[in-house]
Amino acid sequence: MSVQVQGVVARGKGLPVSLETIVVPDPGPGEARVKVQACGVCHTDLHYREGAINDEFPFLLGHEAAGVVESVGPGVTEVAVGDYVVLNWRAVCGTCRACLRGRPQYCFSTFNATQKMTLLDGTELSPALGIGAFAEMTLVAAGQCTKVDPAAPPEVAGLLGCGVMAGLGAAINTGNVSRGDTVAVIGCGGVGDAAIAGARLAGAGTIVAVDIDDRKLEKAVHFGATHTVNSRNVDAVEAIREVTGGFGADVVIEAIGRPETYEQAFYARDLAGTVVLVGVPSPEMKLELPLIDFFGRGGALKSSWYGDCLPSRDFPMLIDLYLQGRLPLQDFVSETIAIGDVEAAFEKMHHGEVLRSVVVFGS
Ligand SMILES: NC(=O)c1ccc[n+]([C@@H]2O[C@H](COP(=O)([O-])OP(=O)(O)OC[C@H]3O[C@@H](n4cnc5c(N)ncnc54)[C@H](O)[C@@H]3O)[C@@H](O)[C@H]2O)c1
Ligand SMILES: [Zn+2]
Ligand SMILES: [Zn+2]
Repeated sequence: MSVQVQGVVARGKGLPVSLETIVVPDPGPGEARVKVQACGVCHTDLHYREGAINDEFPFLLGHEAAGVVESVGPGVTEVAVGDYVVLNWRAVCGTCRACLRGRPQYCFSTFNATQKMTLLDGTELSPALGIGAFAEMTLVAAGQCTKVDPAAPPEVAGLLGCGVMAGLGAAINTGNVSRGDTVAVIGCGGVGDAAIAGARLAGAGTIVAVDIDDRKLEKAVHFGATHTVNSRNVDAVEAIREVTGGFGADVVIEAIGRPETYEQAFYARDLAGTVVLVGVPSPEMKLELPLIDFFGRGGALKSSWYGDCLPSRDFPMLIDLYLQGRLPLQDFVSETIAIGDVEAAFEKMHHGEVLRSVVVFGS
């Protein structure tokens, strides 16, 4: 039996989101229906609402979630009813060219639910990142459910479903930050602060946080930044060089997704250093730099999709670190809100008031 629940829908480019009744089908083969307990508001949801990802409106937003498996379709063995899970957008296929070469973190053919959730009139919804979890119930591919220790509360565990995992992984997996490395992170929202926390966890020495908002910089120190730069007032590249012996950082992580901040990242790294782009640019953005500088500075220019994470490997491990008190995931939660407050949460994000607003169901 399909169920009807309330969900947060973006109907058109730039329009405020609305709370609508949505129809969630019974899980089919390979699918699981999940009772969502908490779902964080990520900047990518706002990108969807603004039409910056694609034009497949209406979207069912929300993709940073934890909950409990309510029912499973035929043939599902990965999870069972009652399992406590974090939803992921990298259900690896095991058979694509990336998976076959032993690089499942790049899987080019990830699974989503086959059936569509709809509005009451039958209009099909596009779930954000194949999840759609600003809803009391959602339908996903069973492989999108990663079991974690239920001792972690849902508003904390769900963070690993997107932004915080992306940031941690940008440092640990993509940037391969190692003991003693100097690291700079440009943009200290939820993703950037997670990159800072990841750099600290990996043993970085100097960690420079760059933002245009002093409140964000204060938070960044809490997560492990050793130096802060307000790039509204000073030149970010110069400031990063100054605290890294005049050379630039070994790894610079761009967590905004803009050409001007990418350019800062490019020039703020040491020779043979690494730039990691984890911020998501809009399709019209362009970058123009002298080609000789790409050659002359050497090193690696990488993008980080979802922190190059493998959910089955990384989510339980990071939850364990959190439970041991070694990763302060709880401090990313600025506020818990009700499902009707997502539009207001976008405003707060826009004004830099929050790291993460997290919708808690039943609140
Ligand atoms: N690669 C991935 O897999 C992935 C996953 C999740 C999110 N993201 C992306 O990461 C980016 C950050 O997400 P978030 O949720 O942390 O967003 P956010 O809005 O919470 O944070 C952005 C931060 O950048 C700062 N900022 C803005 N312009 C700046 C500038 N010119 N110079 C310095 N700082 C500036 C803001 O003050 C803010 O602190 C977004 O583009 C989001 O779509 C990527
Ligand atoms: Zn694959
Ligand atoms: Zn996200």
